[in-house]
Parts: sequence; C-alpha cells; structure tokens
Amino acid sequence: MSDPAAWWGEGTYERLAERLAPIHDELVRRLEPRSGERWLDVAAGPGAVAIRAAQAGARVSASDLAPAMIERARGAAAAAGVELDLGVADARSLPCEDASFDVVSSAFGVIFAPEPERVVAELARVCRSGARLGLTTWVPNEELDAVWEPFADGRPAPTDVWGEERSLERLLGDHFDLEVERDSWLVTGRNGAEVWELFASSAPPVRALLGSLPDERRPALRNAFVDLHERYRDERGVRFPMEYLLVLGKRR
Ligand SMILES: C[S@@+](CC[C@H](N)C(=O)[O-])C[C@H]1O[C@@H](n2cnc3c(N)ncnc32)[C@H](O)[C@@H]1O
Repeated sequence: MSDPAAWWGEGTYERLAERLAPIHDELVRRLEPRSGERWLDVAAGPGAVAIRAAQAGARVSASDLAPAMIERARGAAAAAGVELDLGVADARSLPCEDASFDVVSSAFGVIFAPEPERVVAELARVCRSGARLGLTTWVPNEELDAVWEPFADGRPAPTDVWGEERSLERLLGDHFDLEVERDSWLVTGRNGAEVWELFASSAPPVRALLGSLPDERRPALRNAFVDLHERYRDERGVRFPMEYLLVLGKRR
C-alpha cells in the first residue's frame, strides 16, 4: 500500500468520526479536563478529542501523521471557536519536550502507528509524572479479520497488540498504572451495502486496502464485508457490535 501519510488524509473520515462522537465525549470526560492544563492529543485526525479538551479549558496541542488531517482539524477548531496548537508528527517521534504534558490522549489513533514500543516510549516521555493517559483501542474481531485476511497478504492488523488487556499491560505497564474498560460501538445501517458504502468511503485503511487490489478482486472484498454485516441484520437493520477498550493510565 502507498504512503500512509497520504492515504490517511483521503476520503470522508468525518462521517465515521461523527458516529464515534459518544466515545470521544466519554474519553474526554474520563480524563477530567481542568482549566489551563497542557493536553496533547496524538493521531488527532480532524480534531474531535482535541476540540472537546479545548472547550473544557485545556491548552491543547494536537498532532497527526497526515497533513490533510491537520488541515481539517484547523478548520474544525476555527469553526468551533477554539485554539489548538497543531502540527504534523509521527507518533513514534513527537516534537515535544520531555514531561511537558498533564494529559495525553489518542482515540483510535496511535494504535495504527507501526512499532508500538516506540510509540509507548514517546507517550511516556512527554507525560509529566502523575499525568493522565487516555486511549481507545479496537479489540481484535475474528469475523472482521476473516474478511480482510484473504486480501491483506497475511499482514496482521497493526492494531491487534493494543486490543487485549495482557498485551496492553506488557506495552504500557512499566510507565503507567492502568485501568482498562471494555465496551462496544454499534455499527448500524439499513443493510450491509450501506455499511460498506460508509467504510469504503470513510475508513482510510479500508480505502487503502481496496485501492491496493486489482479491479477484479474488489467485488470479493465488498461481498465478504456485506455478507458479514447482513448476518447482523434484523428488522431494525444492521447492528454489528465492535468491541473497544477505554484505557486510562497514570504516569508513574
Ligand atoms: C481512525 S483515525 C482517528 C482520528 C481521531 N483520533 C479520532 O478519534 O477521530 C486514526 C488517525 O491516526 C493517524 N495516524 C496513523 N498513523 C499514525 C502515525 N504513525 N503517527 C501519527 N498519527 C498516525 C491517522 O492519520 C488518523 O488521523
């Protein structure tokens, strides 16, 4: 697949972000924003968490790998009437001083970066002692993995390591005291085809996978995705639960 900094910025991710809004609200609420605190949102996308934190009075910096996401966050912050300190950065190498933040967050963000150990070292480095960390992470879903696997050349999902309590403890436990809660996000639509249309236009990794396939293989990916979601359809439409973890940490 081509350059992630480019493909993350393509498509209409905001359509998915809107549906994640209750999780963004909960993440910010659980991080207990306080006026004047220094807050960093990593892999911030178009800024949903960063804007909420700024609205709650924090002094917020936000970064993302994709320049196009940062531009969209700039527009969203202006529309919301808040100031964000925005910059392009890979989560593996944050352009921030040691111990410079009271709160560090990432909603379904850093889990997509390669080299999770390097990401964690950076999150720990920029937190002051006692700082609060808040992440949301996807729990591996066997049925969805079975949809992607035949098309992904055996590449494991990069997010898997963030989706299990034990591996989270291994990754983060040396730096943070952790609390992990499990919840689920309901993917809804009138039918499987409608859910596919949403993901194929608005989920950058799905768009990138689709774009990497020769034309003749694309219908098979679509059909496998639609079939799975049709299995979760009742008289109300599709209701496909995706489990996620809310990870709260305190920097030692
Ligand atoms: C699913 S979006 C989440 C965006 C936002 N946090 C939200 O909740 O709406 C994942 C974000 O991670 C960013 N990303 C992917 N790899 C990254 C990396 N190595 N470093 C920093 N950001 C990265 C993408 O550009 C994208 O904006």
